[in-house]
Amino acid sequence: MHNILITGASRGLGLGLTRAYLARGARVYAVIRREPSDELLALSQGHAARLRLILCDLDDDQATAHIGEALQGTRLDRALFNAGIYGPAHQDPCQVSREEIAQLFLSNTIAPVRLAQTLLPSIGEDGILAFISSQMASVELARAQDMPLYGASKAALNSLLRSWSEVPDMSQVTLLALHPGWVRTELGGADAPLSVEDSVSGMIAVIEAEAGQPGCRFLDYQGQVLPW
Ligand SMILES: NC(=O)c1ccc[n+]([C@@H]2O[C@H](COP(=O)([O-])OP(=O)(O)OC[C@H]3O[C@@H](n4cnc5c(N)ncnc54)[C@H](OP(=O)(O)O)[C@@H]3O)[C@@H](O)[C@H]2O)c1
Repeated sequence: MHNILITGASRGLGLGLTRAYLARGARVYAVIRREPSDELLALSQGHAARLRLILCDLDDDQATAHIGEALQGTRLDRALFNAGIYGPAHQDPCQVSREEIAQLFLSNTIAPVRLAQTLLPSIGEDGILAFISSQMASVELARAQDMPLYGASKAALNSLLRSWSEVPDMSQVTLLALHPGWVRTELGGADAPLSVEDSVSGMIAVIEAEAGQPGCRFLDYQGQVLPW
């Protein structure tokens, strides 16, 4: 049985990943920052033995210590850093406040990487650290003109992953930056073409196909390589 950590598990893609990994027989450690949503509560009632909820705001200074304590040395096979935010609706570098920009880069860039770096000793052989990034992160594709602050926060996430992957100790570790597609969630909006279920089943197939292949790659939910 695989042990999977999933952040941002109360709704959207995180809830979909939690549901899908439970259906595959995994044991899921689901990180949520407030009391569980009704959907997550229903899942936890149906899978009491295999779903453990960890209440934690990932932006908190104590988040990594808190999650480490909750895991109690559990070996993780997959750690999925999914929690993220859009940032201010205006997405304007000239209007953004210090607090807004700090919040965006803390949540999307720093919090997932520092949690991953803290958890690395708990990742088992053939384990995978997967970060839900975005195609908006690609500097080369330049698709973030309508959401430049969000795109910059995900580009910075990808940059940290690439820097980390070059550290000598990391040569046997699998790091994935994943684009889930444009998905109908609160963040993606109602006009998005993809359902959570289709995005999640694609991402899980991509993640599982990468097991045992060390390196740092930027892939979409269909397994296509994206340019950094
Ligand atoms: N939807 C898309 O089209 C799309 C496209 C590309 C990339 N992505 C990325 O995919 C990931 C999931 O997005 P989504 O569409 O599922 O978004 P969503 O429906 O807005 O869900 C975001 C989740 O992240 C959690 N979260 C945010 N900040 C957190 C924090 N500080 N601590 C703990 N949890 C936190 C939220 O918790 P609460 O419920 O407590 O707020 C929520 O569960 C994000 O990283 C997003 O950038 C999404």
